[in-house]
Amino acid sequence: MVSVIFPAAGQGRRMRAGCNKVLLTLGGEPILVRTLRQFARVPAVGECIVVAGAQETAEVEAMLAAAERRAPLPPWRVVAGGAERQYSVANGLAACSKAAEVVLVHDAARPLIRPAVIEAVIEAARAHGGAIAAVPEKNTVKVVDAAGVVVSTPARSTLWAVQTPQGFRREILCAAYAQAAADGFLGTDDASLVERLGRPVHVVMSDYRNLKVTTPEDLVMAEALLQAPEA
Ligand code: CTP
Ligand code: MG
Repeated sequence: MVSVIFPAAGQGRRMRAGCNKVLLTLGGEPILVRTLRQFARVPAVGECIVVAGAQETAEVEAMLAAAERRAPLPPWRVVAGGAERQYSVANGLAACSKAAEVVLVHDAARPLIRPAVIEAVIEAARAHGGAIAAVPEKNTVKVVDAAGVVVSTPARSTLWAVQTPQGFRREILCAAYAQAAADGFLGTDDASLVERLGRPVHVVMSDYRNLKVTTPEDLVMAEALLQAPEA
């Protein structure tokens, strides 16, 4: 059985919508609901843990209950998040069923994830312990110092832009989160916590559709991609 944690407890500051961006509508349904619907298409998914802002749990529960009346969702639960994404995921992990062999973490703000990518991440996490969806970086990326001067230019062929889902055997993810908490380490993704344990994390080829709705132009892009046939 696979559990999926959906961090959805952010404030959406860069979206400047005056509310949590995952509650905004995309193609007629809230972004968070659209995201869950993609996971409903993957039979291995046995439970969805939605991590909502502490002030928003009742609103999110009502939203999911209404969505479920329109079309079935996998079994879901809402738990309260924390001040940083990592703390939100930790709360989600504490609520996961012990029967889950694999736990995925997927940003609620990535509604265009394809089921085939979810399945590939599950498979790779089972096989290797850890796996992340990613795409080859399109841009040249530079390391820049605090004064705004370029330090170095890593070879683009070695760079991958990392997305979610990120999937791990449950005991590995629990150990990684416990170690990060003990060390006061705050990472920008889940895999970085697992990497610190010296555990392998495999990259699964995703696609450029799986954007994270972050700024207002991402919402325009996501609406357009919903209409565009999948390549
Ligand atoms: N998230 C969370 N708990 C937090 C912060 C973020 O669960 N304390 C979630 C967001 O809801 C989002 C995902 O993590 O689904 C990715 O974070 P991000 O894109 O940064 O969303 P926000 O933090 O909401 O946006 P911003 O940083 O612009 O305020
Ligand atoms: Mg954020």
